[in-house]
Amino acid sequence: MPASALEGIDESTWVDVIQKMDEVYSQLIDDEIELEKKNAELEQSQQFIFSVLSAMSDVLLVCNERGVIEETNAALCELVGRTDAELHGTSLYELLADPLSVERARTVLGNTNPARRGEGLELNLFDAQRQSVPVDANCTPRVAASGRRVGTVFVARPTAEIKRAYHELRSAHEALKRAQQQLLHSEKMASLGRLVAGVAHELNNPISFVLGNVHALSRYSNRLRAYLAAVHAGEPAEQLQALRGKLRIDHILDDLPSLIEGTLEGAQRTADIVNSLKRFSAMDPEDRIPVDLNEVIKRAIHWIGKGAVPDFEMRWQPGPPLMVMGSAGQLQQVLMNLLQNAQDATAAHGKADKLVSIETEVVENCVRLHLRDNGPGIAPEHLSHVFDPFFTTKPVGKGTGLGLSISYGIVEHHGGVLSVCNQIDAGAEFLLELPLAH
Ligand SMILES: Nc1ncnc2c1ncn2[C@@H]1O[C@H](COP(=O)(O)OP(=O)(O)OP(=O)(O)O)[C@@H](O)[C@H]1O
Ligand SMILES: [Mg+2]
Repeated sequence: MPASALEGIDESTWVDVIQKMDEVYSQLIDDEIELEKKNAELEQSQQFIFSVLSAMSDVLLVCNERGVIEETNAALCELVGRTDAELHGTSLYELLADPLSVERARTVLGNTNPARRGEGLELNLFDAQRQSVPVDANCTPRVAASGRRVGTVFVARPTAEIKRAYHELRSAHEALKRAQQQLLHSEKMASLGRLVAGVAHELNNPISFVLGNVHALSRYSNRLRAYLAAVHAGEPAEQLQALRGKLRIDHILDDLPSLIEGTLEGAQRTADIVNSLKRFSAMDPEDRIPVDLNEVIKRAIHWIGKGAVPDFEMRWQPGPPLMVMGSAGQLQQVLMNLLQNAQDATAAHGKADKLVSIETEVVENCVRLHLRDNGPGIAPEHLSHVFDPFFTTKPVGKGTGLGLSISYGIVEHHGGVLSVCNQIDAGAEFLLELPLAH
């Protein structure tokens, strides 16, 4: 500045200028600092977005409305075997492995009114080895701040992996089902085994009894035949007498009735067991008819009285009809089994006033029958076994242990439940529940 120009400017003006310059400079520094801060923040958020995109296991592809790739993520680069830089600016259609995928992508990009929530699409991409990889894509429109659609965002997941996982799951499920069936089968076989063992055990007794008797009868018949031959041959009386003694004919004659009776009894017991087993089989659904439970109870009480004069007091009041669907005969058998057990229990207990009672009630769509006795009740350790086939606490020859298990099966076939408990003041209580006929 020429000295003449500076003339006339006093010192205070200079101070003002220098102050202004200072202010401008410090403003500049502040702006610079602010800019750097903003820049760092921008970089940080870019880094954040990049890390999120890289962490995504799903494939991400962003393209403009013409299908030119603008953004990718690591999963896509890895899948197609190309870098982000290589993909940038190239066409999305180059990555599609077949004409159908190209057509689908074209339809999505060409849609002028796309759904904001995106739409699902099955596409085939080329992988690094130019093999076709099926992916399940979701395409969402990318909208600029102005609200105009500027492109599409594809998020896709290779389905081969999912399909493989699904197949593995399916075969694991199949294997599990097979294992379950096997388990069920072996459980059935085990129950059958227990039943067969029980039957064999039960039958063994009377059969060996019958067998022993028949062997004896066969020996006796040989001796009788020898004696009869001598008689028919007209042997002299003394010789016959001697032979009679030698062959122990009198002993045979004494023994015969009990041998025959025992054989008959054994055979009868075998027949009883077989008959009981027969009743295990399911009832024919066509045999079901409406049955009044009152009638069944009446008949069961009548028949129990026929066997041996009951020495217990029977308490029961017939009420209004209690209609159930089923077989009157089988239900009567259940009641007779229960009554017989109650009679046995009270008799064994030896109380003076032996009492058996039946009470019925209707609860919702069911009829409930309570059969109580004042016998000794059932030992706690036996409670869970009384319905098992061949479980009995009665002496040999008295009970087969089939009564309750058969009754249980019958009630089950009638759509009902048979259960047992002990009453508080001793004695057993059986509860028979049956659905009422409609
Ligand atoms: N009212 C009852 N009181 C006490 N115990 C009972 C009663 N009813 C059944 N039990 C017990 O349950 C067992 C099994 O009964 P279940 O009717 O199945 O066979 P069982 O009476 O022994 O022989 P079966 O009925 O074949 O002649 C009986 O041996 C007895 O121990
Ligand atoms: Mg019984």
